[in-house]
Amino acid sequence: MIPSIDRVTTMFTATQLQERIAALGAQISRDYAGKDLTLVGILKGSVPFLADLMKHLTVPTQIDFLEISSYGGGMSSTGMVRLVKDLSHPISGKDVLIVEDIVDTGLTLRYLLEMFASREPASLGIAALLDKPGGRVEGADVRIDYLGFSIPNEFVVGFGLDLAGYFRNLPYVGVYDPPSDESATPEASNVPA
Ligand code: IMP
Ligand code: MG
Repeated sequence: MIPSIDRVTTMFTATQLQERIAALGAQISRDYAGKDLTLVGILKGSVPFLADLMKHLTVPTQIDFLEISSYGGGMSSTGMVRLVKDLSHPISGKDVLIVEDIVDTGLTLRYLLEMFASREPASLGIAALLDKPGGRVEGADVRIDYLGFSIPNEFVVGFGLDLAGYFRNLPYVGVYDPPSDESATPEASNVPA
């Protein structure tokens, strides 16, 4: 079933997102001056954030992508993370900044940090548009170097974030309020994160 846009209430407008992303871009440009930056976007949710962020970078920048799938369904990750698509290029010696849409349990990022550590990048940082610090599980207390906004434990969609694959195209971020007849876990299982 296609979820209804009528159930989405705006949390951050397109203007608010763009202002924050511009500020993050300026900060990253300062911090990475003289470095060899590679943005690594986590498909598919990071696409709008990465596309807008990179336009504000004034340092030499390359981009690459990988795709992750979290299984089990529900409103948050089960920690069963599967690599669907790896990077196209080696990151050895590169200053890598992982770009994520949202951090919840922290398990996806923990998996990626462990995977990347053995590839010997010059540095490894994390940029996330949103953070739900209340969702963090023990042992996955990842450090976010560049954060857009911290939010409460609500299920949000838009600007890359999806419900069963829908709503990624919205230019804003909103809270999705499931209809009462829908299960408490509207996120379809086996949908790529
Ligand atoms: P983590 O491993 O729990 O930190 O999972 C992060 C991933 O879960 C994100 O990349 C999203 O794909 C998904 N996710 C977590 N919270 C939300 C949400 O509120 N809306 C949509 N996707 C979410
Ligand atoms: Mg994701």
